[in-house]
Amino acid sequence: MTQRVWVTREIPGESLDRLRSACEVDVWPEATPPSAETLREKVVGCAGLLTMLSDAITGELMDVAGEQLKVVSNYAVGFNNIDVDAAKSRGISVGNTPDVLTDATADTAVALLFAASRHVVPAAKQVQAGEWKTWEPTGWLGVEPGGKTLGIIGMGRIGKATAERLVRGWGMKLLYTSRRDQSDVDNELGGQRVDLDTLLSQSDFVSVHVALNEQTRNLLDAEAIGRMPSHAVLVNTARGEIIDQDALVDALERRAIFAAGLDVTTPEPLPGDHPLVKSPHCVILPHIGSATDQSRHAMAEIAVDNVLAGLSGKPLRCSVT
Ligand code: GLV
Ligand code: GLV
Repeated sequence: MTQRVWVTREIPGESLDRLRSACEVDVWPEATPPSAETLREKVVGCAGLLTMLSDAITGELMDVAGEQLKVVSNYAVGFNNIDVDAAKSRGISVGNTPDVLTDATADTAVALLFAASRHVVPAAKQVQAGEWKTWEPTGWLGVEPGGKTLGIIGMGRIGKATAERLVRGWGMKLLYTSRRDQSDVDNELGGQRVDLDTLLSQSDFVSVHVALNEQTRNLLDAEAIGRMPSHAVLVNTARGEIIDQDALVDALERRAIFAAGLDVTTPEPLPGDHPLVKSPHCVILPHIGSATDQSRHAMAEIAVDNVLAGLSGKPLRCSVT
């Protein structure tokens, strides 16, 4: 019997054709995610799910799908939207798409760092609105990363790629947090592993690269943000839930930190009247860290390989279980 796979959004490239030649594929055609109700209807009888980070894949949903469900393949490196323990206990494989989006996401972190520290977005908006009057000796003054201290929270692949860019390119000094000793980072980039409080109080620029889990939710709360110097710039390309957004709003309003650059928020999108959206000191992107042709095509290849392996009971190309 042909196995069924539900794909929760259109993904780029030819990879879905490979999937279609191996099984019965149904793709959600809308530009916005399926509702929780639609997910519940669509998963019934599926052997594989190819999901986005915006889909909550709970143990209950796995039960609704049925016992034939073998694999959940997330089209993302992060997998906090999937209850991995529930999948394990049901013998369901879970896959993600690491590595191929590392450079694109690190580039996004660097872009946000510069955008936030040089007022790029509000300055460009002023020009676009026809409101730029004259060159100003004291207008739009920003902060420079050259020779300053970079704090990387979470020295995984993306954290390291971000550090490489800023240490090699701008001569930044490197502090980082990591669960494990990383002598390669210390040797190659002159990095120093420190605890979070030290990193926050001693870094001029901080970039967040930890995965979201119960240990990292609200990791940057009011107390943590309160340790940052008033000229500090905070960048987040990981997950919105890692920063306490109310505390960030408060710090930006009081000018207790200089600026923030966010590719991720909670929820996504934030309402248009949210104080972070309105803040002249915060740049927010619509979660485009991996949004390059190259990365998104490569992610599609891996996500489809993961589904195909899972359907035939083989180890996934990139497994998180
Ligand atoms: C994007 O946020 C991803 O996890 O791939
Ligand atoms: C995290 O998953 C990373 O790739 O750095």
